[in-house]
Amino acid sequence: MILWKGKATMFRVNENYLKLPVNYLFSNIEKKVEAFSKAHPTLKHRVIRLGIGDVTQPLIPAIIKTLHEAVDEMGQMETFHGYAPDFGYEFLRTAIMKNDYQGRGCNIEADEIFVSDGAKSDCSNIQEIFSEDSKISVCDPVYPVYLDSNVMAGRTGVWNSQTKMFSKVIYMPCIRENNFSPEFPKEIPNLIYFCYPNNPTGSMLTKAQLQEWVDYANCVGAVILYDSAYEAYISEENIPHTIYECEGARTCAIEFRSFSKNAGFTGVRLGFTVIPKDLKSGNVSLHNLWRRRHATKYNGAPYIIQKAGEAVYSSEGQSQIKEQIVYYMKNARVICEELKSVGYTVFGGVNAPYIWIKTPAGMNSWEFFDYLLENANVVGTPGSGFGPSGEGYFRLTAFGTYENIVEAIERIKKM
Ligand SMILES: Cc1ncc(COP(=O)(O)O)c(C=O)c1O
Repeated sequence: MILWKGKATMFRVNENYLKLPVNYLFSNIEKKVEAFSKAHPTLKHRVIRLGIGDVTQPLIPAIIKTLHEAVDEMGQMETFHGYAPDFGYEFLRTAIMKNDYQGRGCNIEADEIFVSDGAKSDCSNIQEIFSEDSKISVCDPVYPVYLDSNVMAGRTGVWNSQTKMFSKVIYMPCIRENNFSPEFPKEIPNLIYFCYPNNPTGSMLTKAQLQEWVDYANCVGAVILYDSAYEAYISEENIPHTIYECEGARTCAIEFRSFSKNAGFTGVRLGFTVIPKDLKSGNVSLHNLWRRRHATKYNGAPYIIQKAGEAVYSSEGQSQIKEQIVYYMKNARVICEELKSVGYTVFGGVNAPYIWIKTPAGMNSWEFFDYLLENANVVGTPGSGFGPSGEGYFRLTAFGTYENIVEAIERIKKM
């Protein structure tokens, strides 16, 4: 055995990870459901899962056809594609620019769009280009990824198990009293995470409300990180489809989009991030930093998948995905109307595929989770898992099949 000279020190881990809850919220739920199913092998009903926001409808024909064609291209010398361009193929970036931005009167260029494998990666990775001491603000309740990615980066301070908050994070309560829309925080943040249409509350900001936030961010020198993964579900007028509909957003906002919820790409993986070239800290362009990061750490979404993304914007693609959205929103309407009919107080479900339910008096979020699982064999998500202001609420998704939704609601009504 070789004896090395010098004092050895054991390798060390990134201790910020130790500040995270042991499991991601949905892994915890899955464990509970598994334990319940094991303990009750002869259940009368099968368990219906309306917890995690995963789609259930198959990919539309226009996408399947394009996928087949793109696979065939990969088998021919003349049409084979190797590494994709780091920032995305021009054909997809142009389709996004025209349909999602210029078609809505927003001045976004194709080279301000970065194609990726989904919004979750981008909205968790984006914090890397900001200083370590950036002060972040999040809505409470919040999609956990914004917070957890900042915990990993060491930006959130100490966890307080009493308040269930991190010491250095600015929490913006989104509660019934403020119609689930955040108010300007007392302390000024550097980074403001927004998700509209909102997961988990299903709420929206009107264009006038979002404009106020854009004005605020430009005034205090903050960046709005705007996750619009559920944009396709907006049904009401006067709701912005992109933050770039607001004047001044080019100097203060980054937008994240996903193909997961509008076109069922949760298992296919495709998304994009928009960083306008006007967005700067002093004379440093965030667009350039993200370009650098993307070029170093990312090798591009697959050609086949980007072709499928382009098919979403074809006229057949658009009409077929609209049918799916109508399908899920019918589910949302059933959940809202039926639960209201038996006395539940429900929010959301109009511009978003999420329904935010007030738990019955005397029951907290996890108690209602257990009650629903035991009595209706239905799985939802406890609101408190999204933050302290989510306590006393419960989230159901409209992404199930219509048959499952109807059955789940019937069972809940009978409890
Ligand atoms: C708010 C929000 N952003 C992003 C994502 C993930 O999107 P993607 O599948 O594109 O990674 C989700 C998924 O549930 C989400 O709810």
